[in-house]
Amino acid sequence: MLSPERLQRLQQHAERLRQRPLRELCADPARARDWSLSVGPLYLNYARQNVDTEALAELLGLADAADVGAALKRQFDGDMVNTSEGRAVLHTALRSDVGQGQAARNARQQAIDAQARMRELGRELAISNVTDIVHVGIGGSDLGPRLLLDALRPPGARFRVHFIANVDAHEAQRVLAALDPARTAGVLVSKSFGTRETLLNGALLRDWLGDASRLYAVSANLARVADFGIAADRVLPMWDWVGGRFSLWSAVGFSALLALGEAAFDELLTGAALMDRHVADAEPAANMAVLHALFALWNRNARGMASEAVIAYDQRLLQLPAWLQQLRMESLGKSVGHDGQLLTHATAPATWGGVGSTTQHSFFQALHQGSERLPLEFIGVRRPDHTHHQQHATLLANLLAQAEALANGQQSDDPQRHYPGGTPSSMLLLDRLSPESLGALLAMYEHSTAVLGHLWGVNTFDQWGVELGKAVATKLEPALCGERIKVDDAVTRSLVDVLQRD
Ligand code: F6P
Repeated sequence: MLSPERLQRLQQHAERLRQRPLRELCADPARARDWSLSVGPLYLNYARQNVDTEALAELLGLADAADVGAALKRQFDGDMVNTSEGRAVLHTALRSDVGQGQAARNARQQAIDAQARMRELGRELAISNVTDIVHVGIGGSDLGPRLLLDALRPPGARFRVHFIANVDAHEAQRVLAALDPARTAGVLVSKSFGTRETLLNGALLRDWLGDASRLYAVSANLARVADFGIAADRVLPMWDWVGGRFSLWSAVGFSALLALGEAAFDELLTGAALMDRHVADAEPAANMAVLHALFALWNRNARGMASEAVIAYDQRLLQLPAWLQQLRMESLGKSVGHDGQLLTHATAPATWGGVGSTTQHSFFQALHQGSERLPLEFIGVRRPDHTHHQQHATLLANLLAQAEALANGQQSDDPQRHYPGGTPSSMLLLDRLSPESLGALLAMYEHSTAVLGHLWGVNTFDQWGVELGKAVATKLEPALCGERIKVDDAVTRSLVDVLQRD
């Protein structure tokens, strides 16, 4: 884990490097070319990270001292690395046999059986009169499938898939208004089957459909699913060894499988498996996920940057920042270690982002001339799936231009036209946006997040922080239904009064 001594050494490197403009560091053509690596369909160039060879050696020394390889192996093999919940973390078993332990092998078999069942149910639906699928779930039970669908949706798919996540019924109302209950099936996804939002939206959907006969469920809690009225032969499993935000590869992705087809879903898993194998085998200095995590740590801890943004120059990746936000911030947004001791270093920066080129016309002004620099991740796709070559060339020119301009800046005597530069960034290029490349990309982010959590000494796989708000909401709900209950907090009490006013 990151010790105070190592942190101090990293900060000294960062201080030393403050004297060297980023454009100067990157002027070396060998660095521009060689500070990069490819894994299958992914290419990462990190020449524009604000580190030199000495600082990079210090970062790699940290990975070495923390024995990142052994930590990953423990995770892949099925050791109980989620200590606060006493659980193994085996989402890799959903797509590859990278784990060698008995728990990993058992999980792999369960995953294979579940995939076979998913396919069976999918084939049954394909020969029914159902045209539309309503996927109900929230957080990890929503963001992954939503991203997959938006990124990969083929024209003329057998099913249209719609999502309802928010407990705000305006979302359900809008989604259902356009659908015919006689031709719609619902997929309720909740690992716990206890999430208030999903249960309310699920009940709303069940009422709208007329009964539960066209409802499917994906859950680890079979008893609650049965209570809800969904027959066991329409339930797909989840397990406590898959965290919600790591679950898109499981039956949580059932709606995506329905719309994308079995072959595409297989390719997605193949892409992730390829990344799993790379991450398990490669040395830290040539390991895409480890390098990715080390640069995130460098920017957060050595350079004090409190936010990180991902900008994908592909409209189809519009949902990526939201998925990544849960992955990074729910996994890493912690201030104590496994032993409960307060950490002395900062953790999760705010993760956010959007797609280029549209965001250039919204928040890029602040990136270029605002008072703070923050690290960026640019994502580009070499070959588009359209034939509008001029537009693709313009898009890629913008991608390259922004990374360059933000790194190099431009001097001017006119302060209004001065660009400080110095924004560190990585460039991730995909050959095409295919199920395989997307699978590899998302798996890389998962592994990077796990490595970062290990280096920071936090439990990447729990999320106790979300519980308090849920408990308070449960207590307050009767007051919002008009019951005269005691509300202890004076401000909340007066707000309840305002909300309840005639
Ligand atoms: O509230 C946070 C959370 O527990 C996430 O970790 C999870 O992805 C989401 O809620 C949904 O949980 P479930 O799948 O159990 O409904």
